[in-house]
Amino acid sequence: MITGAATKSGIVGWPVEHSRSPRLHGWWLQLYGVDGVYVPLPVQPADLETAIRALPKLGFAGCNVTLPHKQAMLRVVDEIDPVAERIGAINTVVVGPDGRLTGSNTDAFGFIEALREAAPNWRPTGPCVVLGAGGAARAVVVALLDAGASELRLLNRTRAKAEALAALDPRVAVIDWRERAAALADAALLVNTTSLGMIGNDELDLTLDDLPSTALVNDIVYTPLYTSLLDRAMARGNRIVDGLGMLLHQARPGFAAWFGVQPAVSADQRHYVLEQD
Ligand code: ATR
Repeated sequence: MITGAATKSGIVGWPVEHSRSPRLHGWWLQLYGVDGVYVPLPVQPADLETAIRALPKLGFAGCNVTLPHKQAMLRVVDEIDPVAERIGAINTVVVGPDGRLTGSNTDAFGFIEALREAAPNWRPTGPCVVLGAGGAARAVVVALLDAGASELRLLNRTRAKAEALAALDPRVAVIDWRERAAALADAALLVNTTSLGMIGNDELDLTLDDLPSTALVNDIVYTPLYTSLLDRAMARGNRIVDGLGMLLHQARPGFAAWFGVQPAVSADQRHYVLEQD
């Protein structure tokens, strides 16, 4: 139930109808009995600044940001937090009491929290292998660097994009995409941030023979939840982290900032979010 005093947030994207965020936040709003709403906000790229500037005037507490606006939002907000600056993208906006807009990026937090939830004792003590160099990869690389990873191996079909991302930190080494099977030797973690393995896309063609059985394997693809990478990793005894965890955990800081409750991710919520589609 909402009243005239309801706190308002939502997700700005184009298109936005497939976003799971309204369901994800809607679960928490109901669970915690918050007088609030979280709505889809379809905004075309040309209208981004006008729409975002209207948020304080409409009494919104903030919003999440998804494709294709995550980078463009850097030029719209009044303040950018340092993590968002390094990732080069904003996924969460908070309206301050004075109407100023602060942009942050909670994807790195979400990634690390998902790993912690699935494998509480795991630490980035050995090489971490990251496949892909798109927006999701940037958040994963920043998260692993901040978690203290000593060596990151970055592989992307288009090598130049991996080189650009590697410029973030000398601990990131670029390895050619064709060497991906051999790059798994001694790894403590393997993360797929490419869209390979997603329903409708090609499978990730990767032989896991050189991956230590102690390595953690994470696929940020969550449609399907158990990708063939995760299935194969599980079958050979690796611990796995599915892609839904990052989606759920990245939502926590925004919800806390807008609605004033620190939310907890749960198994029931996971099922509820997966039921969409
Ligand atoms: P996101 O923001 O979700 O990370 P993205 O920026 O479109 O999405 O990145 C998609 C990633 O999947 C990229 O690393 C892309 O590789 P390229 O940079 O070479 O395009 C990777 N990817 C997509 N299709 C691929 C394929 N068939 N083989 C290898 N990598 C692929």
